[in-house]
Amino acid sequence: MSPEPPASPHAVRTLTDPAERRRAFDLFLSTLHHGPLTDEAWEAHGHAPDEHWLGLDGDGPDDPVGSAYSFPTRLTLPGGAVVGAAAVSGVGVRPDRTRAGRLSALMRAQLAAARDRGDVATVLRASEAAIYGRYGYGVASRGEHVRLDARPDWRPGAPAGGTVRMLGPDRAATVLPALQERLAARRPGGMTRSPRWWRRALRPAGPTAGQYKGVAVHTGADGADDGFAVWGVVEGDLRTGGGDEVEIQQLWADGPDATAGLWRFLTGLDLSSGVRGWSRPLDEDLDLMLADARRHRVTGRGDDLWLRLVDPGAALAARSWGEGMPVVLRVHDPLLGGGTWRIGPGGAAPAAGAVADLECAADGLATVFLGDRAPSRLVAAGRCSEHTAGAAARADALFAVTGPAPWCGTFF
Ligand SMILES: CC(C)(COP(=O)(O)OP(=O)(O)OC[C@H]1O[C@@H](n2cnc3c(N)ncnc32)[C@H](O)[C@@H]1OP(=O)(O)O)[C@@H](O)C(=O)NCCC(=O)NCCS
Repeated sequence: MSPEPPASPHAVRTLTDPAERRRAFDLFLSTLHHGPLTDEAWEAHGHAPDEHWLGLDGDGPDDPVGSAYSFPTRLTLPGGAVVGAAAVSGVGVRPDRTRAGRLSALMRAQLAAARDRGDVATVLRASEAAIYGRYGYGVASRGEHVRLDARPDWRPGAPAGGTVRMLGPDRAATVLPALQERLAARRPGGMTRSPRWWRRALRPAGPTAGQYKGVAVHTGADGADDGFAVWGVVEGDLRTGGGDEVEIQQLWADGPDATAGLWRFLTGLDLSSGVRGWSRPLDEDLDLMLADARRHRVTGRGDDLWLRLVDPGAALAARSWGEGMPVVLRVHDPLLGGGTWRIGPGGAAPAAGAVADLECAADGLATVFLGDRAPSRLVAAGRCSEHTAGAAARADALFAVTGPAPWCGTFF
């Protein structure tokens, strides 16, 4: 049974009026230290009726002090099931009203609304890592920031890639959304994007007006499109002799051949000294394809997708499982109510009253759910309790994923 959340003094309102949404979005931008949107940028941002917007009033309804919104998405789980989820963004509280429980009020309202709509999960990208764990979010996938020198020597036998063709903005807007949706359905953590997301990512005008944006699609040996890249160029500093660098904004590839084909293309571009990628999937393995692996440098690693299971029973039932003996997992969730499930190779089923082998909070379950981290690592880190010897190792085998590593690759 869900425990009653403590009453909040902050009244959260659903915003349907576009003008109110725009004020809420400008408030959010201000919490990120950005100025308000221009009319043109708001036009490009667009007003989508299927989004769910929340606001907190200050001295009146025209004076928002808190905001959060979400758009509907479809999230891929291990094994390929795709479930409905809410992609959360626009979260901000005005600096003169912070640390008084307003974010908590927004989060509670948002999670309750997502559950009432039947969403299985909510997902977000976090500005800071210390904020969202308390609301049951965990880092479900991670990415690596990388740099690959231009024109590296590829090992003999490394995937050669297929053909690459460039697209103009109009063609890109037609081809890329469907291709990304197909590719995102092949990777745990992959998610669909809203039309607005695409408009903002591909529009030639707006904050990046005048900057170069390249788009290319990769076609495999079977003649089907199986990857794409969107990139910009960061100008080098002539004073230090630094050359221009290609900066990947998006790169999706279905397997090593498409990955190599797109990276070969980008690293082969003239007038560039290297290619930078931010939050790339952990299994991209470019270093294994190079004659000199150090021409590929991992410059950092960070959290990719933050996941919150709103309906953990549905989520556990929908994903696939590895081999081995079952485990009983108890999940504590003061916000939405936890539960106990028996998980085995054949699936997961509620097991109320069963003795738990493993116990964790909602953020712990989210952290292991897509297969990025093994449950035993959470036990070792003190984030999950093992009550039955060997249960964590059994859970490792069950939660393990085969195939592409979990990765979202969408910033929203
Ligand atoms: C992050 C932000 C939304 C928090 O809003 P808030 O109204 O101050 O949050 P609350 O008062 O509801 O805080 C709830 C809890 O989170 C903690 N918390 C809030 N912001 C935190 C932060 N940035 N780092 C660590 N803890 C934080 C509070 O201390 C509080 O902890 P408690 O429950 O143990 O008392 C607000 O500071 C903000 O707008 N920041 C700038 C924009 C931003 O980063 N938005 C998030 C985009 S993903």
